[in-house]
Amino acid sequence: MSHKRVAILLSGGGSNMLALLDSMTGDHPARPCLVLSNDPAAGGLTRAAARGVATAAVDSRPFRGDRLAFEAALIKPLQQAAPDIICLAGFMRVLTADFVSRWQGQMLNIHPSLLPKYRGLHTHARALAGGDVFHGCTVHEVTGVLDDGPILGQARLTVTPDDTTKSLAARVLKQEHQLYPQVLRRFAAGDRTPVCLG
Ligand code: GAR
Repeated sequence: MSHKRVAILLSGGGSNMLALLDSMTGDHPARPCLVLSNDPAAGGLTRAAARGVATAAVDSRPFRGDRLAFEAALIKPLQQAAPDIICLAGFMRVLTADFVSRWQGQMLNIHPSLLPKYRGLHTHARALAGGDVFHGCTVHEVTGVLDDGPILGQARLTVTPDDTTKSLAARVLKQEHQLYPQVLRRFAAGDRTPVCLG
């Protein structure tokens, strides 16, 4: 069997990236080909390298204000790795529609809210401020619109009166580690049926 090649893009610690790497063994239809970051100091790069996965970084700071130039640089290691699937996993740069269109239908993102609620940042604080009964996370196909695109999976939890932004972030992150690998496995097998957890 020839495996699908998966590139993972991150900006931080990479706990979702690790959950994805750990899942891609045995009869899984995909294998990691690259972990790429916009921050050379991202903890996720060290963790990926420790597991023997190829890593690369394109520092976004020198490109501040010039998104197109940043993306032109980001494309190079991606083209070299030739992924079939790109997973954004805590990648905190907004990508242009032009960049996304190169991998249309091949790029996934995980977002810490029940989309279409709370696109963008501070999702846990917004769910608390909204008095939401349910909160959670979503994996979706990436389109040219931020935190939009067909939903491929959601995990839902019930917000308790004791929850804080910190407790919600921790509870949702735990769900992310369940959800993202399940969606990737299905997606890599050509199945886009949404995964529903919780
Ligand atoms: C995760 O909670 C992910 O959903 C979020 O960043 C965190 C990364 O954690 N992504 C976004 O907010 C994207 N807009 P990780 O580095 O430990 O995987």
